[in-house]
Amino acid sequence: MIHQFLWVIYPYITLTIMIAGLLYRYTYKQIGWGAPSTEILEKKMLRTGSMLFHYGIIFAFIGHVMGILIPIGVYDALGVSDAMYHINAVVGGGIAGLVTWIGLLILIVRRLSHRRLQLKTGRSEWTTLLALFIIVTIGTFFMTIGYNILVGQYNYRLTIGPWFRGVLTFHPDASLMADAPLIFRIHVLLSLALFAIIPFTKLVHFFTLPIRYAFRAPIQYRSRVNYDKGKIR
Ligand code: HEM
Repeated sequence: MIHQFLWVIYPYITLTIMIAGLLYRYTYKQIGWGAPSTEILEKKMLRTGSMLFHYGIIFAFIGHVMGILIPIGVYDALGVSDAMYHINAVVGGGIAGLVTWIGLLILIVRRLSHRRLQLKTGRSEWTTLLALFIIVTIGTFFMTIGYNILVGQYNYRLTIGPWFRGVLTFHPDASLMADAPLIFRIHVLLSLALFAIIPFTKLVHFFTLPIRYAFRAPIQYRSRVNYDKGKIR
């Protein structure tokens, strides 16, 4: 029963909330869709933290596509052995995860250490940052790095991968997840919860391709110091 709920019903609840929420927000609350910059409030830590986080998460995302969405048969057909896949996943995924984690930590410390940013940070931003931090910490330190060092290789391409593809094709098989290590299951369950809160947070910008960004006039950020007169305006 519990497995049926967690791996068949719960994923559709979260994904339905995500899709319905995105449609609702797009239709009725499009103003505010995005992640308005806070660069004007603090620049230095944002530049480092945001760059590291975004580059890291893009590579971690590519890693998830390679490990979860692409079936193991494709690798077999291409002659990529388990060992070859695994070493790439641990080294590549480990580096991507660490870069993401460091970036995220900088972004969290930045919000905690600047009064003006604290005032701009609401419950939804804190929830997003905390959820991302827990998911990325589990993924990087407990799964990709920790599990491989302490326990050994876990072949999620035979369990989590087919299960997730089953969810996407409306044939989820709960038994595939029943014996997955607990920490992997927690990572997946929290990620599904994160998907559900996307429409209600700044994470909506994930679904926006910033095409116009390349063509629009740059936004000017100016210091409060008036350099002509040496005074604060
Ligand atoms: C249902 C969705 C998800 C599934 C099935 C999933 C599955 C996995 C698996 C199996 C690993 C271990 C990879 C390895 O050791 O080679 C992993 C690692 C990781 N996951 Fe996820 N994950 C999901 C969602 C997310 C989300 C939403 C985030 C972040 C926002 C995330 C961040 C990470 C990170 C940073 C790592 C470590 C680096 C890496 O190996 O890519 N995951 N995930």
